[in-house]
Amino acid sequence: MKEKLELILNNATQEINNSQSVQELDDVKLKYLSRKGELNSIKKNLKDLSDEEKRVVGSLANSVSNKLEELISIKNNQLYKKELNRKLEEERIDITLPADYRPHGKVHPLTQTINEITEIFQGLGFSIMPQEDSPEVETEYINFDMLNFPPNHPARDMQDTFYTKTAPNVILRSQTSGAQIRQMLHQAPPIRVISPGRVYRCESVSARKNNLFHQIEGLMVDKDITFADLKGILNEFVRIYFGSARPTRFRASYFPFTEPSAEVDVQCIMCSGKGCRTCSGTGWLEVLGAGMVHANVLRNVGIDTETYSGFAFGMGVERLTMLKYAINDIRLFFNNDMRFLNQF
Ligand code: DAH
Repeated sequence: MKEKLELILNNATQEINNSQSVQELDDVKLKYLSRKGELNSIKKNLKDLSDEEKRVVGSLANSVSNKLEELISIKNNQLYKKELNRKLEEERIDITLPADYRPHGKVHPLTQTINEITEIFQGLGFSIMPQEDSPEVETEYINFDMLNFPPNHPARDMQDTFYTKTAPNVILRSQTSGAQIRQMLHQAPPIRVISPGRVYRCESVSARKNNLFHQIEGLMVDKDITFADLKGILNEFVRIYFGSARPTRFRASYFPFTEPSAEVDVQCIMCSGKGCRTCSGTGWLEVLGAGMVHANVLRNVGIDTETYSGFAFGMGVERLTMLKYAINDIRLFFNNDMRFLNQF
C-alpha cells in the first residue's frame, strides 16, 4: 500500500505540473482528492490492515493528501494569474483609436423661442406656471365655460376643437387660456404669471396651420390694473423680442374672456413695401391677442371685481418663431429634418 501511495503522489504531482488550465487542474483534484478519488479508496481499505499498519499507512495517506492539496493550491494560483493576464491582454482597449461619432442634439427652435419669451417675462416680474398645473387634456368647462364662452355660442367654433370619447366634455385644449382659470382658482391676487404649452385644433394642415401648436398665455391681476399696464408690458416684450423699438398697433377685437379685447400688430420686420409677402403689403404683422380680463371671468373664479382688475394675453409660439427667422412653412417645425433644425 505504501508503494501505491507513492505512485499516487508521483502521478498526481506530474499531472498537477502538467495542467494547463484551472479547469484541467480541477479535474486532477477530483481524480485524486474527491470522496470517490484514488486516495479515498485507499483510506477505505485501511480497515483490512493491522493496527500498526493502519497507523503508518493512514498517516502516510494524510501527508500525501496534504502535499497534493498544497501543490494544487500553488498551481491554481499560477494558472489563475496566467489566465487573468491573458484575458486582460485580449480585452485590452486601444484608447488611441478615434471615438465613434455621436452627433450632438440641439434645443428645438420652438423650445428656444419659449425659453427666450419666458425669460423676457421673468425679467418683467412674471412667474412661470408649471406645465402639470395646466393639462393638455382639458375639460370644456375650463377651456370654454369658465372663460365666458356661452353654451352653443358660435365663438366655440372659432377654435375647431378635438373632442374625446374618453368622457363627455373632455377635450384636447384649443388654447392655453384655461391656464388663467386654473391659476386664479389656485391663487388669490396679486397674480402675474405666464403659461406656455401645446394646444390642438382640428384643422387641415397647411404651410400656415398645424393641428398641434404652442401658445404662451399671460395673466396679471391686481388692484388698479389698467389697459395702460397691458400696453406697457406688451410693448416692452415686443421691444426685447424683436430687438428694437418696433412700433406696435392695438386693434380692437373680440374674445369672450376679455373686454375690451385687442389684437396686437407689430410693424412688419422685413417689409418690402406693397408686394411684401410677409405682411401682404399691409405693413403690419399680427402677433398676439390680449385684453382686460372680463368681469364674468373674474366672478367665475370668485375674485372681487370691485377691488381687482387684470389683463391677459396669448401668443402663438410658431408664428413668433417664423416671423423672427423668416420661416415660411409651419410644418418644418414638426418634420424632424436635421437640415432645418441644425440652422438654429
Ligand atoms: N386664446 C386666444 C386664442 O387662442 C388668444 C388670446 C386672446 C389669449 C386674448 C388671451 C387674450 O389671453 O386676452 O385665439
